[in-house]
Amino acid sequence: MRVRLTDHDATQALGRWLATRVRGGQTLSLEGPLGAGKTTLLQGLAEGLGVTQQTTSPTFIVFRVLPIKKAGLKNLVHADAYRIHDAGELAATGFKEYLGRPDSLVVVEWGNRVRRVLPTDTLRIKMMRPSADQDSRLAELPEQLGVLPKKWETTYHA
Ligand SMILES: Nc1ncnc2c1ncn2[C@@H]1O[C@H](COP(=O)(O)OP(=O)(O)OP(=O)(O)O)[C@@H](O)[C@H]1O
Ligand SMILES: [Mg+2]
Repeated sequence: MRVRLTDHDATQALGRWLATRVRGGQTLSLEGPLGAGKTTLLQGLAEGLGVTQQTTSPTFIVFRVLPIKKAGLKNLVHADAYRIHDAGELAATGFKEYLGRPDSLVVVEWGNRVRRVLPTDTLRIKMMRPSADQDSRLAELPEQLGVLPKKWETTYHA
């Protein structure tokens, strides 16, 4: 399913919708080029999950564990693999201990760079910039996440 995201707020709103679809134990990989909106989507997701801590990308550390108080979930684990040169670097951090844990949702920006370390059933969300001169984004969501409400399909479907 492809969704057109007309502006920053639409990307965040999609993240908040995602918060209603995800379950503990899942891993999401946010993929797409620089500036595609991966962190913006994560911020909407975090807000939807009731994370109060700021969710900028981890710069000097590989991943962060953000506490959640909602729906049986304890941790939102946010990793950014942009600066990782080898998937083994991520595996060496203790990150893998959070994979598949029912109380944790794992989200990896640039997950395509560390696929070897992620579970085979990782849900891949692809973010795209339709063209350089058009200031909007496209998101491609795996069907396991379900169907967006009609409002989205009619307003944003590509
Ligand atoms: N649908 C959208 N339309 C236009 N601009 C958007 C949209 N979604 C997000 N943006 C803007 O795009 C910029 C980059 O967003 P963001 O930081 O989320 O991208 P990113 O994929 O995480 O980038 P990076 O790969 O550098 O981490 C931000 O200024 C954000 O506000
Ligand atoms: Mg980012």
